[in-house]
Amino acid sequence: MARTRHAIDEATRSKDLTGTTYIVTGSNSGVGLETARQLVRQGGHVVMACRRTEAGEQAARSFVGLDGTHEVMRADLADLASVREFADAFTAKHDRLDGLACNAGMVNMRGDLERTKDGFESTIAVSYFGHFLLTELLLDTLKATAPSRMAIVSSVVHAGSPKNRPQLALDDLNHERRDFSGMRAYCEAKVATVLYAAELADRLEGTGVSTFSVHPGWARSNFGSGGSLPMRIAMAIMRPLTRFVSDTNEQSAQTTLHCLLSDDAPRHSGAYFSQSSVLYRDKECKDGGWPMETPNPNAKNMDTARQLVAMSYDLVGLDSPSPTK
Ligand SMILES: NC(=O)c1ccc[n+]([C@@H]2O[C@H](COP(=O)([O-])OP(=O)(O)OC[C@H]3O[C@@H](n4cnc5c(N)ncnc54)[C@H](OP(=O)(O)O)[C@@H]3O)[C@@H](O)[C@H]2O)c1
Repeated sequence: MARTRHAIDEATRSKDLTGTTYIVTGSNSGVGLETARQLVRQGGHVVMACRRTEAGEQAARSFVGLDGTHEVMRADLADLASVREFADAFTAKHDRLDGLACNAGMVNMRGDLERTKDGFESTIAVSYFGHFLLTELLLDTLKATAPSRMAIVSSVVHAGSPKNRPQLALDDLNHERRDFSGMRAYCEAKVATVLYAAELADRLEGTGVSTFSVHPGWARSNFGSGGSLPMRIAMAIMRPLTRFVSDTNEQSAQTTLHCLLSDDAPRHSGAYFSQSSVLYRDKECKDGGWPMETPNPNAKNMDTARQLVAMSYDLVGLDSPSPTK
């Protein structure tokens, strides 16, 4: 049966974003680039937060002729100092932030545990800890701009299967006491993103800032291209075969765009939004949903979410927030 993809509706697609400011992390390629492109197309100003600024500049050349504007600023999500520098540089220059798309991510296909200079396991560092610090540092700006939004990119893999649901090892988030598996680290990092969006929505209730986690679909992006040679060959062979079940980067950007722009999304702050995906192991999830309930109970446990966030404050060197509610 043909798969129905979710796509932003006409009202959302034609909103005039003149005067608005967005940040999209990891926007030099793939889903992030197409997210940024649509925001610029609609007249917004997009700050492309990229670890390789030259790649960001190169990618942004394709925005020529679009209504909006962009700038490329350096942000390495695997480096807390770089995230702080980015946030300082952004707030020095901009006094509004309508939407923050925490899109950057990576998976370690090489198999060996890699640590960032801050001591985090690399996968969770980029997908979660870097975005956690970035979001917390920009919360005042998001609140001052409210209504405003934050969408963090998760993945279908956070859901696992009915027999094997990924869960966060809160006592060993950085894989110091267990055997390392790149895929398990990726699944756990993406559980963390779903939990963070839910916790933040709860914490920010009444502020006008909405938060979401997103599965973008199976994007034909550069994702996972840094694996071993046999892995890269296998992926190159597989790519044409998966064409009919995977998505273009533009299709994969739709869910983040819906969260950032649609009138409906803020009614579901904290929720998980998903493109349809053949990769769900639970049949009833394959159609995705804007929003949908994650089938993984470990990704909706608010006690775990609050513990994760409390630990994260400590781990990234921030003071715990004073209650906003
Ligand atoms: N592709 C899929 O099917 C799929 C499925 C589910 C979820 N996702 C998620 O979708 C998001 C976007 O991925 P994609 O598919 O568009 O892949 P992609 O083309 O590889 O894009 C990933 C982006 O993240 C950036 N990035 C990686 N490490 C970074 C770091 N330390 N600091 C800053 N930026 C960093 C990359 O920058 P460089 O170019 O410098 O590496 C790139 O711009 C990721 O969060 C991914 O986990 C993808």
